[in-house]
Amino acid sequence: MRIAVVGTGYVGLVTGTCFAEVGIDVTCIDIDIKKIENLKKGVLPIYEPGLEEMVQRNAQKERLTFSNDLASSIQGCGCEAAFIAVGTPPGEDGSADLKHVLAVARAIGQHMTDYMVVVTKSTVPVGTAQKVRTAIEEELAARGVDIPFDVASNPEFLKEGAAIEDFLKPDRIVVGVASERAEKVMRKLYKPFLMSGHPLIFMDIPSAEMTKYAANAMLATKISFMNDIANLCEIMGADVNMVRKGIGSDARIGNKFIYPGIGYGGSCFPKDVKALIKTAEENGYQMQVLKSVESVNEKQKEVLFNKIMAHFSGDVAGRTFALWGLSFKPKTDDMREAPSLVIIEKLLAQGAKVRAYDPVAMKEAEHTLGDTIEYGKDEYEALIDADALLLVTEWPEFRSPNFTVVSKLMKEKVVFDGRNIYDAAEMAEKGFAYYGIGVKQNVQQEKAVV
Ligand code: UDX
Repeated sequence: MRIAVVGTGYVGLVTGTCFAEVGIDVTCIDIDIKKIENLKKGVLPIYEPGLEEMVQRNAQKERLTFSNDLASSIQGCGCEAAFIAVGTPPGEDGSADLKHVLAVARAIGQHMTDYMVVVTKSTVPVGTAQKVRTAIEEELAARGVDIPFDVASNPEFLKEGAAIEDFLKPDRIVVGVASERAEKVMRKLYKPFLMSGHPLIFMDIPSAEMTKYAANAMLATKISFMNDIANLCEIMGADVNMVRKGIGSDARIGNKFIYPGIGYGGSCFPKDVKALIKTAEENGYQMQVLKSVESVNEKQKEVLFNKIMAHFSGDVAGRTFALWGLSFKPKTDDMREAPSLVIIEKLLAQGAKVRAYDPVAMKEAEHTLGDTIEYGKDEYEALIDADALLLVTEWPEFRSPNFTVVSKLMKEKVVFDGRNIYDAAEMAEKGFAYYGIGVKQNVQQEKAVV
């Protein structure tokens, strides 16, 4: 079996590589010449655990090839499916920009020679598959040829940092189709991934497109809801960790995705929540819950900064803040919409200094932030003479640092924990002023006052 995957970003590269891993011949296509040159050498544009070795292994076996040339990769290729996995960046108004998706659809229409299923893998608004179909039909008509084809919608549910595992052992695979022929092709393609017993769910195309947005919107809602509860816990003297356990053991609620923090980031939630609100608005409907989810998240990204200002009574100019974790979550170098960016921007605006360390996102950070901040070569170097430590991303290596060393290196023993990875009581015992999310603030001071 042979397929083509257009777009070698996060989704396309993982998709293409995992299909190759189960023995399918895959050509990954991208217009970015440098990216393809690098991929041919086994150099990846992103960090994702396990992906590099998998790319190199399958490329060596020639099951995975890379090309800049869409025309020759599609003409007479014998592909049963072509996946469109190019970016859908948010336009200025928050709606998903489809220009790349539709340009690829047109190019496929210009060059396809035999039946294939054209699959949208990028997250695209409801109705996009229909636009893809029209674009291809127009190109075929312009060529004066009548080649049969189908469109399908196959949203991805990959988590960055666990994308390979999610692809190889998916909870479920959702495919929207409009013909039996397309269903057959998609079933054959995904058969190797059904070993875990999880379902391959076929549905109509608009429902598949909507499923992706509904899933991300629901998850974002859980997080914003918990962040709101956490903020109220602080005010009322409750501990959100207890509340989380209390509600999470109710099977209807579940114990996943109810961890409060400093707001969700990354490429999917912020973009998809915006896009769904926009789609609804364009169709005369107001998504009130989602609008609140979004505004709670915006505010939550400022929570750590506000705690810092309160602790230092607004006097942060000239102080140095050690910041652990720059990526929007652990195990990725992705800094898109990362809470770290908001915190850094606000501190710098106050005249404070930031010295940051992240296990894999340093290059990405230098690219985005340049020399506006300092960089530590490890987490301890970042702490030297710092007035406070800000724990921003919960990388495993930050979970149990040597606090004796930490105390010695820092100027003041103050920790702002944006992910609740340390225990408030233990930190107080160690003599730290400790601020978490939704827990009692700075218990040490409370004791001192009493
Ligand atoms: C997400 C979805 O999980 C995935 O299914 C979808 O296809 C793409 O978007 P990803 O962006 O990789 O994946 O990150 P995820 O692990 O879901 O975390 C998203 C954000 O929520 C992170 O910023 C994380 O820190 C935050 N989060 C998550 C919380 O604040 N609390 C939680 O309990 C869980």
